[in-house]
Amino acid sequence: MAAIAAPSLSAEAAQVEQAASPKAGQDGSATPRSGPEILETNCAACHDMGVITATPHSAEDWPVVVQRMIGNGANLSTEDRATLEAYLINTYSTPH
Ligand code: HEC
Repeated sequence: MAAIAAPSLSAEAAQVEQAASPKAGQDGSATPRSGPEILETNCAACHDMGVITATPHSAEDWPVVVQRMIGNGANLSTEDRATLEAYLINTYSTPH
């Protein structure tokens, strides 16, 4: 009886595999996004990029700002948050 379900399952799996193959190894949903990408989609939604780049923050300040933005309503996954903080610190931090 279990054998009845098996053929339809494998047909489905083959279809999924076929649909996924053109993008395989490239740009699937599991691929981490880059810092600038996260900044543009998750941060520049509420305010201009100018607000972000014009305000000086030290490396210690950026995670605090990001935390406050999450309080303001920014929606970041744990992974995106880590990427973004590293990017902000490397790109926009000022000496303390
Ligand atoms: C839901 C709207 C919203 C989103 C999304 C958002 N912000 Fe903000 N942001 C604000 C508001 C409102 C202010 C002004 C009040 C404040 O400073 O909390 C602000 C102010 C700022 C400032 C200037 C104030 C300061 O302390 O320097 C920076 C820098 C900043 N945001 C960075 C970011 C970054 C980086 C992200 C992405 C993680 C982000 N924001 C996402 C709403 C948002």
